[in-house]
Amino acid sequence: MAVINENYLLIKSNYIFAEIDQRVEKYQNDNPDADIIRMGIGDVTRPLPQAVIEKFTEAVKEMGEAETFQGYGPYRGYDFLIDEIIKNDFNPLGIELSNEEIFVSDGAKCDTGNIQEIFDVTSTVAVTDPVYPVYVESNVMAGRIGPMGDDGRYDKLVYLPCTEENGFVPEIPKIPVDLIYLCYPNNPTGTVLTKEQLAKWVEYARENNSIILFDAAYEAYIQEDDIPRSIYEIEGAREVAIEFRSFSKNAGFTGTRCAYTVVPQELMGYDSEGNPHSINNLWYRRQTSKFNGVSYPIQVAASAVYSPKGQEEIRESVDYYMKNASIIRKSLKDFGLSIYGGVNSPYIWIKTPEGMDSWQFFDFLLNEAHIVGTPGVGFGPSGEGYLRLTAFNTLENTKKAMDRISKLSL
Ligand code: MLT
Repeated sequence: MAVINENYLLIKSNYIFAEIDQRVEKYQNDNPDADIIRMGIGDVTRPLPQAVIEKFTEAVKEMGEAETFQGYGPYRGYDFLIDEIIKNDFNPLGIELSNEEIFVSDGAKCDTGNIQEIFDVTSTVAVTDPVYPVYVESNVMAGRIGPMGDDGRYDKLVYLPCTEENGFVPEIPKIPVDLIYLCYPNNPTGTVLTKEQLAKWVEYARENNSIILFDAAYEAYIQEDDIPRSIYEIEGAREVAIEFRSFSKNAGFTGTRCAYTVVPQELMGYDSEGNPHSINNLWYRRQTSKFNGVSYPIQVAASAVYSPKGQEEIRESVDYYMKNASIIRKSLKDFGLSIYGGVNSPYIWIKTPEGMDSWQFFDFLLNEAHIVGTPGVGFGPSGEGYLRLTAFNTLENTKKAMDRISKLSL
């Protein structure tokens, strides 16, 4: 008899975005004429940059010639990509990294979900609440934080509420926590932390031997000064933080899949006797056993993001989505809703109108305006009473959606 990992029974039966898909599909079947505008999942709509396509195509052709064919690549990723990553994403911020500290992968979702495997099952975990569900669910699957109590909270998880009341700034825990997931610019609230605020987390982690798992997938959307683009801008972060980056949201790789994770050499975890072990070595060991890397053409395509033309094109895309974000912000404000985010992030976090919870507002927008959002409660208990819209749709659809909302009456 194949006995299952019962921790899987402790997670919600559906991943939030799969649940939304099912509901929208049902609605579309029942209302075939409804012109539905999807502003739920954070999936991009603009095509890959031309600079990327050109190199991607060339690399695919290379795979068809004996002289240039590539088989398994290096476990950490090709140096031609890693060199560009370090030179463009970190050196301008005054951050030096060695090539061995970068691990190219097929997504920040996979890496943020998998990283917990190298830590003990008894490690304590803190997440901001609301939060990207992957961090929580991967820890439940591992048996670290289940089961969920009647109040919809996992008993063993440390929740760091981010709400209107605290300006969406998580409070530093009063107790030591081993692993802390921070995502900034934040998904789902679209808010950011200043350098000073992030520095407090680094200080906490250093004092408590904690590790910060810093998801910077939305870094390209930062518009304001004094917002850290990398946690390594904070002094001392190399000893306490892993950073996750992605080509999905800046360069449109959601369907192409390429990302990378930074694991500094100084970062240590401890065995049960208190002896230090290199997290970089453990992650390398994990990846070599379980992952064969990202395909050669995709790594070539990702490296083209750093060409002058690639950089110009991704700036245009980010500007395009940020224009959508400002249209959404203005329209919803004019409509009388309280909104957050959308300034350094493609996500707009909306307080639901009086008397409506997250799912009721989701249904209201779907039924009355044929707009799909993401109910805030799907991101955790403190997301109740909010709904997230993304700026990743087309300008045309974004304007159409806002026009529809302006005609609604609450
Ligand atoms: C989201 O909508 O939160 C993201 O698209 C999910 C993801 O990036 O996996």
